[in-house]
Amino acid sequence: MRMYDIIMKKRNGEKLTPEEIGFFITGYTRGDIPDYQVSALMMAVYFQGMDEEETLALTMAMAHSGDMLDLSAIGGIKVDKHSTGGVGDKTSLALAPMVAACGVKIAKMSGRGLGHTGGTIDKLESFAGFSTAISLDHFIRQVNEIGISIMGQTADLAPADKKLYALRDVTATVDNMSLIASSIMSKKLAAGADAIVLDVKTGSGAFMKTLEDSLALAREMVRIGNGAGRRTMAVVSDMDQPLGRAVGNALEVKEAIDTLGGQGPEDFMELCMTLGSRMLMAGGRAEDEKEARDMLRQAVDSGAALDKLADFVRAQGGDPAAVYDPDLLPAATHVEPILACTDGYIRRIQCDEIGVCSLLLGGGRETKDSQIDLSVGLVLAAKVGDYVKAGQPLAYMHYNDPARAEAALERFHRAYTLDREPTCAPPLIHQILE
Ligand code: URA
Repeated sequence: MRMYDIIMKKRNGEKLTPEEIGFFITGYTRGDIPDYQVSALMMAVYFQGMDEEETLALTMAMAHSGDMLDLSAIGGIKVDKHSTGGVGDKTSLALAPMVAACGVKIAKMSGRGLGHTGGTIDKLESFAGFSTAISLDHFIRQVNEIGISIMGQTADLAPADKKLYALRDVTATVDNMSLIASSIMSKKLAAGADAIVLDVKTGSGAFMKTLEDSLALAREMVRIGNGAGRRTMAVVSDMDQPLGRAVGNALEVKEAIDTLGGQGPEDFMELCMTLGSRMLMAGGRAEDEKEARDMLRQAVDSGAALDKLADFVRAQGGDPAAVYDPDLLPAATHVEPILACTDGYIRRIQCDEIGVCSLLLGGGRETKDSQIDLSVGLVLAAKVGDYVKAGQPLAYMHYNDPARAEAALERFHRAYTLDREPTCAPPLIHQILE
Protein backbone atom coordinates (compact mmCIF):
# COMPACT_ATOMS: atom_id res chain seq x y z
CA MET A 1 0.00 0.00 0.00
CA ARG A 2 1.28 3.51 -0.80
CA MET A 3 0.23 6.74 0.89
CA TYR A 4 0.36 8.46 -2.51
CA ASP A 5 -2.41 6.18 -3.86
CA ILE A 6 -4.58 6.76 -0.78
CA ILE A 7 -4.30 10.54 -1.18
CA MET A 8 -5.15 10.32 -4.89
CA LYS A 9 -8.12 8.05 -4.25
CA LYS A 10 -9.66 10.46 -1.75
CA ARG A 11 -8.76 13.49 -3.89
CA ASN A 12 -10.79 11.88 -6.69
CA GLY A 13 -13.78 11.42 -4.38
CA GLU A 14 -13.49 7.66 -3.91
CA LYS A 15 -14.23 5.76 -0.73
CA LEU A 16 -11.28 4.52 1.38
CA THR A 17 -11.28 0.98 2.76
CA PRO A 18 -10.78 0.27 6.49
CA GLU A 19 -7.37 -1.23 5.52
CA GLU A 20 -6.28 2.00 3.82
CA ILE A 21 -7.47 4.08 6.77
CA GLY A 22 -5.70 1.73 9.21
CA PHE A 23 -2.52 1.92 7.08
CA PHE A 24 -2.24 5.71 7.19
CA ILE A 25 -3.19 6.00 10.88
CA THR A 26 -0.66 3.34 11.94
CA GLY A 27 2.04 4.75 9.68
CA TYR A 28 1.45 8.32 10.81
CA THR A 29 1.41 7.41 14.52
CA ARG A 30 4.72 5.55 14.12
CA GLY A 31 6.30 8.44 12.24
CA ASP A 32 6.65 6.46 8.97
CA ILE A 33 4.34 8.75 7.00
CA PRO A 34 5.34 12.44 6.89
CA ASP A 35 3.16 15.40 7.87
CA TYR A 36 2.99 16.73 4.30
CA GLN A 37 1.31 13.60 2.98
CA VAL A 38 -1.18 13.45 5.86
CA SER A 39 -1.90 17.18 5.39
CA ALA A 40 -2.74 16.52 1.75
CA LEU A 41 -5.03 13.66 2.74
CA MET A 42 -6.78 15.79 5.39
CA MET A 43 -7.43 18.48 2.77
CA ALA A 44 -8.80 15.86 0.38
CA VAL A 45 -11.10 14.59 3.18
CA TYR A 46 -12.10 18.18 3.92
CA PHE A 47 -13.34 18.68 0.35
CA GLN A 48 -14.55 15.18 -0.53
CA GLY A 49 -15.88 14.10 2.89
CA MET A 50 -16.08 10.62 4.35
CA ASP A 51 -19.16 8.43 4.57
CA GLU A 52 -20.39 6.67 7.73
CA GLU A 53 -18.29 3.55 7.21
CA GLU A 54 -15.11 5.51 6.58
CA THR A 55 -15.77 7.72 9.62
CA LEU A 56 -16.29 4.68 11.85
CA ALA A 57 -13.13 3.04 10.47
CA LEU A 58 -11.13 6.23 11.11
CA THR A 59 -12.48 6.45 14.68
CA MET A 60 -11.64 2.82 15.43
CA ALA A 61 -8.14 3.13 13.94
CA MET A 62 -7.42 6.22 16.05
CA ALA A 63 -8.93 4.67 19.20
CA HIS A 64 -6.69 1.62 18.75
CA SER A 65 -3.56 3.67 18.02
CA GLY A 66 -2.67 3.63 21.76
CA ASP A 67 -3.98 2.14 25.00
CA MET A 68 -7.59 0.95 25.07
CA LEU A 69 -8.46 1.22 28.76
CA ASP A 70 -9.77 -1.98 30.23
CA LEU A 71 -12.29 -1.08 32.93
CA SER A 72 -13.52 -4.64 33.41
CA ALA A 73 -12.11 -4.64 36.95
CA ILE A 74 -14.86 -2.18 37.81
CA GLY A 75 -18.19 -3.90 38.36
CA GLY A 76 -21.38 -2.65 36.71
CA ILE A 77 -22.05 -0.45 33.71
CA LYS A 78 -19.57 2.41 33.43
CA VAL A 79 -21.08 5.56 31.94
CA ASP A 80 -19.01 8.44 30.56
CA LYS A 81 -20.18 11.94 29.76
CA HIS A 82 -18.54 14.33 27.33
CA SER A 83 -19.23 17.97 26.56
CA THR A 84 -18.04 19.62 23.36
CA GLY A 85 -17.21 22.61 25.58
CA GLY A 86 -18.69 25.95 26.40
CA VAL A 87 -18.57 29.05 28.56
CA GLY A 88 -19.44 28.46 32.22
CA ASP A 89 -19.73 24.74 31.50
CA LYS A 90 -19.05 23.27 34.93
CA THR A 91 -21.49 20.41 34.36
CA SER A 92 -19.22 17.49 35.25
CA LEU A 93 -18.44 19.03 38.66
CA ALA A 94 -22.05 18.70 39.81
CA LEU A 95 -23.32 15.96 37.51
CA ALA A 96 -20.65 13.34 38.25
CA PRO A 97 -21.25 13.33 42.06
CA MET A 98 -25.04 13.40 41.55
CA VAL A 99 -24.94 10.37 39.28
CA ALA A 100 -22.37 8.53 41.43
CA ALA A 101 -24.54 9.15 44.52
CA CYS A 102 -27.31 7.28 42.65
CA GLY A 103 -25.06 4.25 42.16
CA VAL A 104 -23.75 4.64 38.58
CA LYS A 105 -19.97 4.30 38.42
CA ILE A 106 -18.17 7.34 37.03
CA ALA A 107 -14.73 6.52 35.59
CA LYS A 108 -13.91 9.59 33.56
CA MET A 109 -10.92 11.04 31.74
CA SER A 110 -10.85 14.80 31.37
CA GLY A 111 -8.71 17.47 29.81
CA ARG A 112 -7.50 20.95 30.59
CA GLY A 113 -8.96 24.04 28.98
CA LEU A 114 -7.47 25.93 26.06
CA GLY A 115 -8.84 29.21 24.75
CA HIS A 116 -12.11 30.62 26.04
CA THR A 117 -13.60 27.34 27.34
CA GLY A 118 -12.28 25.96 30.62
CA GLY A 119 -11.36 22.37 31.39
CA THR A 120 -12.69 20.23 34.22
CA ILE A 121 -9.20 19.47 35.53
CA ASP A 122 -8.31 23.14 35.95
CA LYS A 123 -11.55 23.75 37.81
CA LEU A 124 -11.02 20.78 40.13
CA GLU A 125 -7.56 22.09 41.03
CA SER A 126 -9.38 24.88 42.89
CA PHE A 127 -9.46 22.33 45.74
CA ALA A 128 -6.06 22.63 47.45
CA GLY A 129 -3.99 19.48 46.83
CA PHE A 130 -6.38 17.90 44.31
CA SER A 131 -4.66 15.89 41.57
CA THR A 132 -5.82 14.09 38.45
CA ALA A 133 -2.31 12.75 37.78
CA ILE A 134 -3.17 9.39 39.34
CA SER A 135 -2.23 5.90 38.23
CA LEU A 136 -4.65 3.61 36.44
CA ASP A 137 -4.61 1.32 39.49
CA HIS A 138 -5.55 4.20 41.77
CA PHE A 139 -8.30 5.24 39.29
CA ILE A 140 -9.86 1.75 39.19
CA ARG A 141 -9.55 1.19 42.95
CA GLN A 142 -11.17 4.54 43.68
CA VAL A 143 -14.12 3.89 41.35
CA ASN A 144 -14.66 0.54 43.02
CA GLU A 145 -14.44 2.08 46.50
CA ILE A 146 -16.40 5.32 46.17
CA GLY A 147 -17.99 5.12 42.70
CA ILE A 148 -16.24 8.10 41.14
CA SER A 149 -12.85 9.17 39.80
CA ILE A 150 -11.66 11.69 37.21
CA MET A 151 -8.21 11.17 35.76
CA GLY A 152 -6.12 13.37 33.45
CA GLN A 153 -5.89 12.10 29.89
CA THR A 154 -2.76 9.98 29.48
CA ALA A 155 -0.40 10.60 26.55
CA ASP A 156 -1.10 7.14 25.24
CA LEU A 157 -4.83 7.58 24.82
CA ALA A 158 -5.54 7.81 21.07
CA PRO A 159 -2.06 9.22 20.19
CA ALA A 160 -3.01 9.27 16.48
CA ASP A 161 -5.72 11.81 17.26
CA LYS A 162 -3.29 13.95 19.23
CA LYS A 163 -0.91 14.14 16.24
CA LEU A 164 -3.65 14.51 13.67
CA TYR A 165 -5.49 17.22 15.60
CA ALA A 166 -2.30 19.28 15.95
CA LEU A 167 -1.77 18.94 12.19
CA ARG A 168 -5.37 19.84 11.32
CA ASP A 169 -5.11 22.86 13.58
CA VAL A 170 -2.34 24.38 11.41
CA THR A 171 -3.64 23.22 8.01
CA ALA A 172 -7.19 24.67 8.17
CA THR A 173 -8.77 21.20 8.26
CA VAL A 174 -10.35 21.16 11.73
CA ASP A 175 -13.93 21.93 10.77
CA ASN A 176 -14.97 18.82 8.93
CA MET A 177 -17.78 16.85 10.57
CA SER A 178 -16.23 13.37 10.06
CA LEU A 179 -12.86 14.52 11.35
CA ILE A 180 -14.31 16.24 14.44
CA ALA A 181 -16.65 13.36 15.30
CA SER A 182 -13.93 10.72 14.89
CA SER A 183 -11.46 12.80 16.90
CA ILE A 184 -13.80 13.17 19.89
CA MET A 185 -15.16 9.62 19.75
CA SER A 186 -11.76 7.93 19.36
CA LYS A 187 -10.78 9.31 22.80
CA LYS A 188 -14.12 8.34 24.33
CA LEU A 189 -13.92 4.78 22.98
CA ALA A 190 -10.32 4.37 24.16
CA ALA A 191 -11.33 5.59 27.64
CA GLY A 192 -13.28 2.37 28.10
CA ALA A 193 -16.82 3.25 29.27
CA ASP A 194 -19.74 1.01 28.30
CA ALA A 195 -22.11 3.89 27.63
CA ILE A 196 -21.52 7.50 26.60
CA VAL A 197 -23.78 10.53 27.10
CA LEU A 198 -22.73 13.46 24.91
CA ASP A 199 -23.56 17.10 25.61
CA VAL A 200 -23.21 18.81 22.23
CA LYS A 201 -23.26 22.57 22.68
CA THR A 202 -24.69 24.95 20.14
CA GLY A 203 -24.48 28.73 19.82
CA SER A 204 -22.08 31.65 20.00
CA GLY A 205 -20.01 30.18 22.86
CA ALA A 206 -19.74 26.71 21.31
CA PHE A 207 -17.46 25.03 18.84
CA MET A 208 -20.51 24.53 16.58
CA LYS A 209 -22.28 27.86 16.13
CA THR A 210 -25.43 26.71 14.33
CA LEU A 211 -28.08 24.25 15.43
CA GLU A 212 -27.85 22.49 12.08
CA ASP A 213 -24.12 21.79 12.50
CA SER A 214 -24.52 20.79 16.14
CA LEU A 215 -27.27 18.32 15.26
CA ALA A 216 -25.18 16.87 12.44
CA LEU A 217 -22.21 16.42 14.81
CA ALA A 218 -24.44 14.87 17.47
CA ARG A 219 -25.94 12.42 14.95
CA GLU A 220 -22.52 11.44 13.64
CA MET A 221 -21.10 10.82 17.13
CA VAL A 222 -24.14 8.82 18.25
CA ARG A 223 -23.83 6.69 15.11
CA ILE A 224 -20.11 6.08 15.74
CA GLY A 225 -20.62 5.20 19.42
CA ASN A 226 -23.43 2.76 18.73
CA GLY A 227 -21.56 1.39 15.72
CA ALA A 228 -18.62 0.65 18.03
CA GLY A 229 -20.92 -1.24 20.40
CA ARG A 230 -21.18 1.43 23.13
CA ARG A 231 -24.62 2.69 23.99
CA THR A 232 -24.43 6.37 23.02
CA MET A 233 -26.88 9.26 23.21
CA ALA A 234 -26.60 13.02 22.79
CA VAL A 235 -28.24 16.09 24.25
CA VAL A 236 -27.90 19.21 22.10
CA SER A 237 -27.90 22.09 24.59
CA ASP A 238 -27.73 25.83 24.38
CA MET A 239 -24.50 27.82 24.45
CA ASP A 240 -25.86 31.10 23.13
CA GLN A 241 -25.35 32.49 26.63
CA PRO A 242 -23.14 31.16 29.44
CA LEU A 243 -24.48 28.18 31.39
CA GLY A 244 -25.55 29.22 34.89
CA ARG A 245 -24.07 32.49 36.12
CA ALA A 246 -20.42 31.82 37.01
CA VAL A 247 -17.57 31.88 34.47
CA GLY A 248 -14.07 31.22 35.85
CA ASN A 249 -12.51 28.24 37.59
CA ALA A 250 -13.10 28.59 41.35
CA LEU A 251 -16.28 30.61 40.75
CA GLU A 252 -17.66 27.70 38.71
CA VAL A 253 -16.68 25.23 41.44
CA LYS A 254 -18.60 27.36 43.93
CA GLU A 255 -21.63 27.37 41.63
CA ALA A 256 -21.44 23.58 41.28
CA ILE A 257 -21.29 23.26 45.11
CA ASP A 258 -24.28 25.61 45.45
CA THR A 259 -26.15 23.47 42.92
CA LEU A 260 -25.37 20.28 44.81
CA GLY A 261 -26.72 22.08 47.89
CA GLY A 262 -29.97 22.81 45.99
CA GLN A 263 -29.17 26.53 45.59
CA GLY A 264 -27.82 26.65 42.04
CA PRO A 265 -29.13 28.41 38.91
CA GLU A 266 -32.18 26.82 37.35
CA ASP A 267 -30.74 26.28 33.87
CA PHE A 268 -27.65 24.54 35.24
CA MET A 269 -29.70 22.24 37.47
CA GLU A 270 -32.01 21.41 34.56
CA LEU A 271 -29.07 20.46 32.33
CA CYS A 272 -27.69 18.23 35.11
CA MET A 273 -31.11 16.59 35.45
CA THR A 274 -31.41 16.04 31.69
CA LEU A 275 -27.94 14.54 31.29
CA GLY A 276 -28.02 12.75 34.65
CA SER A 277 -31.32 11.02 33.92
CA ARG A 278 -29.85 9.63 30.66
CA MET A 279 -26.79 8.45 32.58
CA LEU A 280 -28.92 6.64 35.18
CA MET A 281 -30.98 4.97 32.44
CA ALA A 282 -27.87 3.98 30.46
CA GLY A 283 -26.30 2.69 33.69
CA GLY A 284 -29.34 0.50 34.37
CA ARG A 285 -30.31 2.30 37.62
CA ALA A 286 -33.57 3.81 36.39
CA GLU A 287 -36.31 2.56 34.07
CA ASP A 288 -37.50 5.91 32.83
CA GLU A 289 -36.81 9.61 33.03
CA LYS A 290 -39.23 10.28 35.88
CA GLU A 291 -37.66 7.63 38.09
CA ALA A 292 -34.18 8.93 37.24
CA ARG A 293 -35.09 12.55 38.01
CA ASP A 294 -36.62 11.53 41.36
CA MET A 295 -33.41 9.69 42.27
CA LEU A 296 -31.21 12.66 41.31
CA ARG A 297 -33.43 15.09 43.22
CA GLN A 298 -33.26 12.82 46.28
CA ALA A 299 -29.44 12.66 46.02
CA VAL A 300 -29.34 16.46 46.13
CA ASP A 301 -32.01 16.97 48.80
CA SER A 302 -30.49 14.37 51.15
CA GLY A 303 -26.97 15.85 50.85
CA ALA A 304 -25.66 12.55 49.39
CA ALA A 305 -24.46 14.22 46.17
CA LEU A 306 -22.55 16.91 48.07
CA ASP A 307 -21.00 14.26 50.33
CA LYS A 308 -20.00 12.31 47.20
CA LEU A 309 -18.14 15.38 45.92
CA ALA A 310 -16.31 15.60 49.26
CA ASP A 311 -15.37 11.89 49.12
CA PHE A 312 -14.11 12.34 45.56
CA VAL A 313 -12.00 15.41 46.39
CA ARG A 314 -10.49 13.66 49.43
CA ALA A 315 -9.71 10.46 47.49
CA GLN A 316 -7.64 12.46 44.98
CA GLY A 317 -5.58 14.30 47.58
CA GLY A 318 -7.70 17.44 47.83
CA ASP A 319 -8.97 19.24 50.91
CA PRO A 320 -12.73 18.60 51.05
CA ALA A 321 -13.33 21.41 53.59
CA ALA A 322 -14.18 23.81 50.73
CA VAL A 323 -17.06 21.54 49.67
CA TYR A 324 -18.87 22.58 52.85
CA ASP A 325 -17.35 26.08 53.05
CA PRO A 326 -16.78 27.49 49.52
CA ASP A 327 -15.23 30.65 51.04
CA LEU A 328 -12.08 28.50 51.35
CA LEU A 329 -11.77 28.31 47.53
CA PRO A 330 -9.27 30.65 45.82
CA ALA A 331 -10.74 34.18 45.84
CA ALA A 332 -9.80 37.30 43.88
CA THR A 333 -8.69 40.45 45.70
CA HIS A 334 -11.25 42.68 43.95
CA VAL A 335 -14.95 42.17 43.17
CA GLU A 336 -16.68 44.96 41.28
CA PRO A 337 -20.09 45.25 39.66
CA ILE A 338 -20.34 46.03 35.96
CA LEU A 339 -23.30 48.37 35.60
CA ALA A 340 -25.85 48.70 32.80
CA CYS A 341 -25.54 52.02 30.94
CA THR A 342 -29.21 52.10 29.84
CA ASP A 343 -32.56 50.56 30.78
CA GLY A 344 -33.67 47.57 28.74
CA TYR A 345 -34.18 43.85 28.24
CA ILE A 346 -31.09 41.72 27.65
CA ARG A 347 -31.56 40.69 24.02
CA ARG A 348 -28.27 38.93 23.41
CA ILE A 349 -25.08 37.89 25.20
CA GLN A 350 -22.24 37.15 22.80
CA CYS A 351 -21.19 34.10 24.74
CA ASP A 352 -17.65 33.56 23.43
CA GLU A 353 -16.86 37.20 24.34
CA ILE A 354 -17.73 36.45 27.97
CA GLY A 355 -15.32 33.52 27.78
CA VAL A 356 -12.67 35.87 26.41
CA CYS A 357 -13.30 38.29 29.32
CA SER A 358 -12.50 35.50 31.77
CA LEU A 359 -9.42 34.62 29.71
CA LEU A 360 -8.27 38.27 29.76
CA LEU A 361 -8.67 38.37 33.54
CA GLY A 362 -6.22 35.45 33.68
CA GLY A 363 -8.73 32.61 34.06
CA GLY A 364 -7.91 30.82 30.80
CA ARG A 365 -4.97 29.60 28.77
CA GLU A 366 -3.80 31.44 25.66
CA THR A 367 -1.18 28.78 24.96
CA LYS A 368 -0.94 25.30 26.38
CA ASP A 369 1.83 26.34 28.80
CA SER A 370 0.04 29.41 30.25
CA GLN A 371 -0.47 29.55 34.02
CA ILE A 372 -4.05 30.24 34.97
CA ASP A 373 -5.44 32.28 37.85
CA LEU A 374 -8.11 30.08 39.45
CA SER A 375 -9.71 32.91 41.41
CA VAL A 376 -10.80 35.32 38.63
CA GLY A 377 -13.86 35.47 36.40
CA LEU A 378 -17.38 36.82 36.16
CA VAL A 379 -20.68 36.14 37.85
CA LEU A 380 -23.55 37.26 35.64
CA ALA A 381 -26.39 39.13 37.36
CA ALA A 382 -28.53 39.46 34.22
CA LYS A 383 -29.15 36.92 31.47
CA VAL A 384 -31.10 36.94 28.21
CA GLY A 385 -34.70 38.06 28.75
CA ASP A 386 -34.02 39.86 32.07
CA TYR A 387 -34.91 43.55 32.46
CA VAL A 388 -32.34 45.93 33.97
CA LYS A 389 -32.41 49.62 34.80
CA ALA A 390 -29.42 51.87 34.07
CA GLY A 391 -27.01 51.59 37.00
CA GLN A 392 -28.07 48.05 37.91
CA PRO A 393 -25.40 45.32 37.77
CA LEU A 394 -25.10 43.18 34.66
CA ALA A 395 -22.35 41.12 36.28
CA TYR A 396 -19.70 41.08 38.99
CA MET A 397 -16.09 40.97 37.91
CA HIS A 398 -13.64 39.10 40.15
CA TYR A 399 -10.06 40.20 39.43
CA ASN A 400 -6.56 40.63 40.83
CA ASP A 401 -4.92 42.86 38.22
CA PRO A 402 -6.60 46.24 37.41
CA ALA A 403 -4.96 46.43 33.94
CA ARG A 404 -6.47 43.05 33.03
CA ALA A 405 -9.82 44.16 34.45
CA GLU A 406 -9.84 47.22 32.19
CA ALA A 407 -9.28 45.12 29.06
CA ALA A 408 -11.96 42.65 30.14
CA LEU A 409 -14.48 45.41 30.92
CA GLU A 410 -14.24 46.84 27.41
CA ARG A 411 -14.83 43.40 25.97
CA PHE A 412 -17.71 42.73 28.36
CA HIS A 413 -19.71 45.77 27.22
CA ARG A 414 -19.41 44.58 23.62
CA ALA A 415 -20.91 41.21 24.60
CA TYR A 416 -24.24 42.52 25.98
CA THR A 417 -27.00 43.89 23.73
CA LEU A 418 -29.99 45.58 25.40
CA ASP A 419 -33.33 46.30 23.76
CA ARG A 420 -36.54 48.12 24.69
CA GLU A 421 -38.64 45.15 23.54
CA PRO A 422 -38.99 42.06 25.76
CA THR A 423 -37.02 39.02 24.57
CA CYS A 424 -37.34 35.34 25.45
CA ALA A 425 -34.39 33.34 26.71
CA PRO A 426 -33.24 30.68 24.20
CA PRO A 427 -34.35 27.10 24.95
CA LEU A 428 -31.84 25.21 27.08
CA ILE A 429 -32.34 21.79 25.47
CA HIS A 430 -32.67 21.83 21.69
CA GLN A 431 -32.86 18.11 20.99
CA ILE A 432 -32.13 14.72 22.52
CA LEU A 433 -30.86 11.91 20.30
CA GLU A 434 -31.12 8.45 21.79
N1 URA B 1 -12.37 18.58 19.82
C1 URA B 1 -11.68 17.45 19.53
O1 URA B 1 -11.31 16.70 20.43
N2 URA B 1 -11.41 17.18 18.24
C2 URA B 1 -11.80 17.98 17.21
O2 URA B 1 -11.53 17.66 16.07
C3 URA B 1 -12.51 19.13 17.52
C4 URA B 1 -12.79 19.42 18.84
